[in-house]
Amino acid sequence: MSLKYILPVLAASQAVFAASDCGDTKIKTQSDADGINSCSTVKGDVKIDESYSGTLQLSGVEKITGGLICSGGANVSSISADSLTTVGKAFDLEGLTTLTLLDFPQLDSVGSINWEALPKLQSLSFAKGVTKAGDVSIANTGLNDLNGITLKTVGTFSIQNNRDLRTININNLQNATDLISFSGNYDTLEVDLPNLGTGTNMTFQNISSVSLPSLEKLTGQLGFWGTKFETFSAPNLTQTGDLVFKDNSELSNISMPVLKTVDGGFTIARDDKLSAISLPALQRVNGAIDFSGTFNKLSLGALKDVEGSFNMQSTRGNFSCDDLRKLKNDNVIKGNFKCDATNANPTTSKGGSGTSSSDSSSETSSGAAFMTGANVPVVGLAALFGALAQLL
Ligand SMILES: *[C@@H]1O[C@H](CO)[C@@H](O)[C@H](O)[C@H]1NC(C)=O
Ligand SMILES: *[C@@H]1O[C@H](CO)[C@@H](O)[C@H](O)[C@H]1NC(C)=O
Ligand SMILES: *[C@@H]1O[C@H](CO)[C@@H](O)[C@H](O)[C@H]1NC(C)=O
Ligand SMILES: *[C@@H]1O[C@H](CO)[C@@H](O)[C@H](O)[C@H]1NC(C)=O
Ligand SMILES: *[C@@H]1O[C@H](CO)[C@@H](O)[C@H](O)[C@H]1NC(C)=O
Ligand SMILES: *[C@@H]1O[C@H](CO)[C@@H](O)[C@H](O)[C@H]1NC(C)=O
Ligand SMILES: *[C@@H]1O[C@H](CO)[C@@H](O)[C@H](O)[C@H]1NC(C)=O
Repeated sequence: MSLKYILPVLAASQAVFAASDCGDTKIKTQSDADGINSCSTVKGDVKIDESYSGTLQLSGVEKITGGLICSGGANVSSISADSLTTVGKAFDLEGLTTLTLLDFPQLDSVGSINWEALPKLQSLSFAKGVTKAGDVSIANTGLNDLNGITLKTVGTFSIQNNRDLRTININNLQNATDLISFSGNYDTLEVDLPNLGTGTNMTFQNISSVSLPSLEKLTGQLGFWGTKFETFSAPNLTQTGDLVFKDNSELSNISMPVLKTVDGGFTIARDDKLSAISLPALQRVNGAIDFSGTFNKLSLGALKDVEGSFNMQSTRGNFSCDDLRKLKNDNVIKGNFKCDATNANPTTSKGGSGTSSSDSSSETSSGAAFMTGANVPVVGLAALFGALAQLL
């Protein structure tokens, strides 16, 4: 038979083969991956078997309607997909402990990302950049940055315990519809979300800088624990849910010049370098105001309504508790009132220590409340231990 006849036969058999094989696919060897090269769309999941060893190339596939998944593939050293633009569902990689390369030059859209325990993965080769993803969770990887993740909107964005993660700049991100949280990453992680305008909850631990110049409104909690930045500036923020600054050892300046409403409680505690608290536009706090520490100046000139209790304690406050008591008498403050401007051991409303140096033996009761209350960052186990450690 001449070549002229072989070719159409081959092509036809390949077409049949392709059509029948473009569904759920399990990849144990490179030849399994080669088997779907002619499928531009895989209608189903692509699962990489945990026994896979070495480099893996998915060529030709442009779209996977299901997930791209590998769990426990300890010997998978790289995954490349030269044409893949879309993963419809989960892009889940877990326990690929020797993976050093993810090369997805065309990838733009994924249902969700869940990467966990990829300690050798230091960077992403995502030339085009992922602009669309539902929830993103990245934990315990070796990533140094998140270049290649260029999301415009995201649901949950959870970045935990990536010990080498030094910078995160997501220039495109404008809207986050669920919890954004960072904890336990490289201890001088810098987070830049220059265009983020709205979000729900955001919690930050173990970061050294954060930039949120465009942030206008959060419907949920904004919380900072154990950070290392000196200034927190949110020039455009007008409204948040619960607002918490706790154990931020370098924080000396909180600048929120247009913050008007805290739709929850507002806590400041154990921020030892914070010497002035000035919230010139703050009118309404729907929960309690609970500030304790070593601050000297306090300015809450616009306050009109505090639905919860009011606790103000400092070691060296140059503010008048009598003036503040007028707010209670005028019914601006609806709940219990406590004020002590010069208390050697200032405490939070729950009795926890207001400074990191003073005795915190009475912290246990506040500990329980802290862990069950709305101001618990919903983060990984390590962060939970971090939070527990703070209470001891
Ligand atoms: C990885 O390779 C090692 C050495 O060949 C082998 O012992 C181990 O079982 C492999 N792991 C997996 C998950 O297949
Ligand atoms: C943010 O996303 C939510 C959900 O997709 C949408 O309802 C809301 O309008 C968006 N807000 C902005 C400012 O884009
Ligand atoms: C801050 O808000 C003002 C007024 O709404 C707006 O003109 C400005 O662009 C905002 N700044 C940023 C960085 O988003
Ligand atoms: C978001 O913040 C609100 C309070 O502002 C809190 O009640 C809720 O539990 C938080 N949700 C998450 C997922 O952290
Ligand atoms: C993260 O911050 C917490 C305090 O919020 C601290 O206890 C913990 O040691 C920090 N972790 C790292 C890795 O720096
Ligand atoms: C606090 O930070 C803001 C914003 O960066 C700045 O404008 C202001 O001057 C700072 N205040 C002090 C007392 O350093
Ligand atoms: C306390 O504040 C007043 C102005 O409110 C100022 O005149 C005075 O010098 C301050 N005292 C100290 C010790 O800072």
